[in-house]
Amino acid sequence: MKKTRVKLGNRSYEIRICRDRIGLLGKAIKQLEIGSDAVIITNPSIKKFFGARVKRSLLSAGFNVRFETVPDSEKAKSEKHCIRLLNNISRSDGLGRRVFIVALGGGVIGDLAGFVASIYKRGVPYVQVPTTLLAQVDSSIGGKVAIDLNIGKNLAGSFYQPRLVYSDISFLKKLPEKALVSGLAEVIKYGIIKSPALFSFIRSDLKKILRRCPGTLERVVYKCGSIKARVVEKDELDNKDTRIILNFGHTVGHAIETAAGYGKAYDHGQAIALGMLAASFISMKLSLLAKADYLKIKALIKDSGLPTVLKGVSVKDIMLAQGHDKKFICGKNRFVLPVRIGKTVIKEDIPESLIRESIKSLLWT
Ligand code: GLY
Repeated sequence: MKKTRVKLGNRSYEIRICRDRIGLLGKAIKQLEIGSDAVIITNPSIKKFFGARVKRSLLSAGFNVRFETVPDSEKAKSEKHCIRLLNNISRSDGLGRRVFIVALGGGVIGDLAGFVASIYKRGVPYVQVPTTLLAQVDSSIGGKVAIDLNIGKNLAGSFYQPRLVYSDISFLKKLPEKALVSGLAEVIKYGIIKSPALFSFIRSDLKKILRRCPGTLERVVYKCGSIKARVVEKDELDNKDTRIILNFGHTVGHAIETAAGYGKAYDHGQAIALGMLAASFISMKLSLLAKADYLKIKALIKDSGLPTVLKGVSVKDIMLAQGHDKKFICGKNRFVLPVRIGKTVIKEDIPESLIRESIKSLLWT
């Protein structure tokens, strides 16, 4: 078991990375003294794979346990499901009970369950139990929780830290190949923004990662979690220009996701991979990043099984989608640009023509 702590005063919490320790989840939560009644928010397929083991673990630690399931898609992050969950939780929440929430799933479940926890009775404790690589390395950590509104993603949300992040690598055994590779995009991101050592490790141990070698995955999840923890500690509320580095690849990436229709042509990780390439291209064109580093980034993305070539979405639609992205502050844009592997700078007002050129560069093979 590996551990790191997100140090945020009285909102501090531990990230635990373990292997085949689902049975000890209940005991870990018990130590937190956060309540008596666990509401596990999950989706039907995760419930089928892991629900019984998680339930048993919580029951044996003395908790009352109930499940709330939501659909297995971004649709779950909606007002409809949020309100339904709040009503269901309140119906079973009796006198003398202390409810807490367990987010058992990927990024969608974590965001939704965390948001529900943040507003139910003005806040009840919650624990993140991420079951995807993306959630283990990124979305379960940091306390940004949200649901989508009709007009856009993550528009209703809060900063609300979990009380524990419990990442068991064995959850990743059931992860579809595409989702594993998608999570790898965020792992590569951490290497590029903060850690040449992680970047080299992904390059050297890529086969083991893709074969889901537990020890290798444990190392990767620990390293990324530690990087994210340090970034969040410096800028919990995302207002100090520190946390923004986590958006590397997300400006063009989100625009690709929007233009392509969420989850249709590209999933999140695939879109972010293309976004990281576009940002690296801009950096190279501004003479901030050496061509050799750009090519290393491109090669690792490709070797990981992520796309390096844009298909089925027009440059025009991506440019249009970009104009609506919140990362284009007040009509200006801000890009996180790598200057070498492990270091980035923030640049504002990148000329539209260069952004267009970077997206066009994704059409080359
Ligand atoms: N929940 C993801 C983050 O806070 O960054």
